[in-house]
Amino acid sequence: MTIILGIESSCDETAVALVTSEREILSHKLATQEDAHRPYGGVVPEIAARAHAEKIAPLVEAALADAGLALAEVDAIAATAGPGLIGGVMVGLVTGKALAHGAGKPLVAVNHLEGHALSARLTDPDLQFPYLLLLVSGGHCQLLAVEGVGRYRRLATTIDDAAGEAFDKTAKLLGLGFPGGPAVEAAAREGDPTAVPLPRPLLGSPEPHFSFAGLKSAVMRAAQSGDYQTNDIAASFQQAVVDCLVDRTDKALKGLDFAPSALVMAGGVAANAIIRTALQRLSADHGLAFVAPPLWLCTDNGAMIAWAGGERFAAGLTDPLDIAARPRWPL
Ligand code: KG4
Ligand code: ZN
Repeated sequence: MTIILGIESSCDETAVALVTSEREILSHKLATQEDAHRPYGGVVPEIAARAHAEKIAPLVEAALADAGLALAEVDAIAATAGPGLIGGVMVGLVTGKALAHGAGKPLVAVNHLEGHALSARLTDPDLQFPYLLLLVSGGHCQLLAVEGVGRYRRLATTIDDAAGEAFDKTAKLLGLGFPGGPAVEAAAREGDPTAVPLPRPLLGSPEPHFSFAGLKSAVMRAAQSGDYQTNDIAASFQQAVVDCLVDRTDKALKGLDFAPSALVMAGGVAANAIIRTALQRLSADHGLAFVAPPLWLCTDNGAMIAWAGGERFAAGLTDPLDIAARPRWPL
């Protein structure tokens, strides 16, 4: 059994976790910066980097104390090395390097997207490669063939905004606050998803790519028209996103050149209950197993980085201490 310490700091959550190769989460700590960014209606990179720098060392100490472990008992240090807001990524990666150097442990530089991609395997021991992954977060909206550790094939991506970004912008437009996803989901619960006619960009198009920019503009026009209730706009927007995600994933499933063991959904938007249910139904229609991590593991966290780091460590993939943080890093 190995124990991995994982560090995440690529956006607005500072997170540290200790996870074993036996899928035991020994501890996980998270400091969210939501309150610091709320007045600006979005994540401010400078504020984020400073907050990560303040929080990261106490979180490492707290995670170790919670697990009753000394750093010497950890087998490897995993840290997000990108993609993300570069200031924050640097804080987490430098912390990981310092711990690895100081304790004489190997460093595993983890791609944040790989953390999301493998997160379902932490909680579902039966999930085997290959699987089809719908990765829906604040920065990404992709369909990926996950063939093994470090082996990812991108089948489709967004041609403009990410799904989470569309939720965040819609929340801002509707004055629902920050962070946007949960706020829109809550408002949508009180609204009528058929009340506002909104477009479904790329629906039915031959390649399974995504697009959400036109939807965002239509939400803006609906909000400015004064003809609709906020809750109805939220519900109609959410339904349009559901329809797009289902149609595009259906298209990908029909054109696959491999037999997936499951449809897996991950990333912050996978925390949305309506979206989870819709994708689960699509999987059932295709006779496929559906796997989505528990909600806390969908949004950014340290456990997914520790787990992905552990999977890489087990495959013999460690990194030199001079590895650089990368703001952009496609899987
Ligand atoms: O994976 P994540 O925590 O960070 C990134 O890697 O981007 O995803 C954050 C995104 C945000 O855009 C947020 O609004 C969205 O996930 N999100 C949701 C929900 N919870 C978080 N979107 C829809 N419904 C939710 N319940
Ligand atoms: Zn993420």
